[in-house]
Amino acid sequence: MGRQFFVGGNFKMNGTIKSITDIVHHLNSAPLDPKTEVVIAPPGLFLLLVREHLKSEIEVCSQNVFDKSNGAFTGEISAEQLNDSKIGWALCGHSERRAILGEQDEFVASKTKAALDGGLRVIVCCGETLEQRESDKTIDVVTTQLKAVAEKTKDWSKIVIAYEPVWAIGTGKVASTQQAQEVHSAIRKWLADNVSKEAAEATRIIYGGSVSEKNCKELAREEDIDGFLVGGASLKPAFVDIINAKQ
Ligand code: G3H
Repeated sequence: MGRQFFVGGNFKMNGTIKSITDIVHHLNSAPLDPKTEVVIAPPGLFLLLVREHLKSEIEVCSQNVFDKSNGAFTGEISAEQLNDSKIGWALCGHSERRAILGEQDEFVASKTKAALDGGLRVIVCCGETLEQRESDKTIDVVTTQLKAVAEKTKDWSKIVIAYEPVWAIGTGKVASTQQAQEVHSAIRKWLADNVSKEAAEATRIIYGGSVSEKNCKELAREEDIDGFLVGGASLKPAFVDIINAKQ
């Protein structure tokens, strides 16, 4: 069976009660490809508001999760709390958290494991900086990031991998279809060699970095691109066109 196309919307630290409610209403009434799995990640403050008003076919994702289930961890949210609140997904390893908050591979892997153990599904992000790409380290960087996760997690059935080249995030410089396909195919090969053939065949590998309604269709035609993680464009009505990229 083919892999179900997956589109995530990461609102990052954007939006107000009004603007996010408007997005929810827009998604509730827009014609969405029923074959695409859609997940949106509003800021933590709005998770419950979104879950309450968004139609049930669309899942809600936390932009972060901690690696402990409860306790004296000021400011953090656990997988168990998210699960209890009907928030079914978490993002782990986004490059903004790696770069700005200093999250290392091992911590990302630990959070991923805690999220899975707590009943969530996880979008695990990986990707190289421009400097790393220019020194031909892309595949090394990405597979090292994923290896940390593989060391803690054998079951990849609840993981979606988001390949997000750091130089393409929020810059308007989307990776070419060839650049993206090349990395996605290398990730799939890495999964086959290091996790299992089944995981390589079944795991969705989605692309993120300046995806828009203009470039999504071409990217979606590539064999190993199973969807998108969308930042800026997920706040706009054109997000619907990205969800429908396969139509
Ligand atoms: O999580 C989403 C990515 O960081 C992509 O963001 O679409 O604004 O480039 P962007």
